[in-house]
Amino acid sequence: DFAALAPMPDDPILGLVELFKKDPRETKVNLGVGVYLNEAGFLPLMECVEEAERRLLERHLPRGYMPMSGMPQYCASVQKLVFGKDHAAVKAGRISTIQTLGGTGALQLAAAFAHQFLGVNQGVVSDPTWGNHIAILKADGLEVGKYAYLKADRSGIDFEAFKAALNALPAKTLVLLHGCCHNPTGFDFSHDEWREVVKILVERDLLPLIDMAYQGFGAGLEEDAFAIRLLADEGVTFLAATSCSKNFGLYGERVGALHIVCDNEKEAQVVTSIMKRIVRQEYSNPPTHGGQIVAEVLGDPELQASWRKEVEGMRSRIVGMREALYAAGKAEGLDFSFAVKQHGMFSFTGLSAEEMDLLREKYGVYGVRNGRICIAGLNHRNVEYVAKSLAAVFKA
Ligand code: LMR
Repeated sequence: DFAALAPMPDDPILGLVELFKKDPRETKVNLGVGVYLNEAGFLPLMECVEEAERRLLERHLPRGYMPMSGMPQYCASVQKLVFGKDHAAVKAGRISTIQTLGGTGALQLAAAFAHQFLGVNQGVVSDPTWGNHIAILKADGLEVGKYAYLKADRSGIDFEAFKAALNALPAKTLVLLHGCCHNPTGFDFSHDEWREVVKILVERDLLPLIDMAYQGFGAGLEEDAFAIRLLADEGVTFLAATSCSKNFGLYGERVGALHIVCDNEKEAQVVTSIMKRIVRQEYSNPPTHGGQIVAEVLGDPELQASWRKEVEGMRSRIVGMREALYAAGKAEGLDFSFAVKQHGMFSFTGLSAEEMDLLREKYGVYGVRNGRICIAGLNHRNVEYVAKSLAAVFKA
């Protein structure tokens, strides 16, 4: 019987969504989960997605099984989006790209591949990182350590401590890095810092796994791919997990990709055959709908152009809300410059778990207990209330 089982604590991020829904207060603000809300406070259905769905519906496509590696047009177009359509690695056919169940699914398959087929037993993640990273790597048999990332006063990256940590790792350690829009801190490496990072990764024979779930929300769709493209330029063999949840607003469709950058085309074919085997054992093949939408959008130059505009619109709204939060903080006599120094959906406020509890319980402002708030949940109607609530907690 199951009587001896104990319940699991709620997920620190997704659990907040449920708590928020139950909160009856009208003033409540959802800055928990990483979901983009528009100025009106709603999760939008992107126009290009609606148009793609209209076209797909007209074609009355049957819903057969996808290939184990996913829809070929989806994989090819996402690979171009991530690496750049003219990248030498793309043209050489040395990247194995498969469709995955969101970014989470890509990370899980990456860990399974590294552990089962490359003999990797140890992984490291940034301190702090997205909570699920550690759980995913552990579930696939890796021992998980942390590398230094944030300065003690949380004002930026402690790059010297980070490099020292990397230099102390044994060869073949899987190093999970955030390609852009670091989750949860919002602090990213500069291009020069990335060049140094890549050098160490190569010298120490480490295995990079780049998680890029937020392409387009940092500096722009092309700019955000800098790290991944640099690794590919330098001839590094590595893994990259990407997602269409955020930049296509397709959260619930679970559509992502795992890219394994190999030395040559032959190696990439072998890797794809291995990934198909892993997928077959786990879920056979990915669902059809989300991948078809993305392939439709990226496959039509006009639709792709309007998608790029929509993503840029979301990005600039987030940048605008960062500035608005900073200004609203100033009006409260507080320095919220963290908001304008960080990138992507998230900001690290520097508040403790207890302070985040107070923020939620007393003011109805929901953020993650590690001090993270989702800037994409701010709008011009709630930003002052949020700044006032933050100020009250900072001063409490
Ligand atoms: C987040 O960090 O809020 C998102 O990546 C959503 C999730 O699955 O946690």
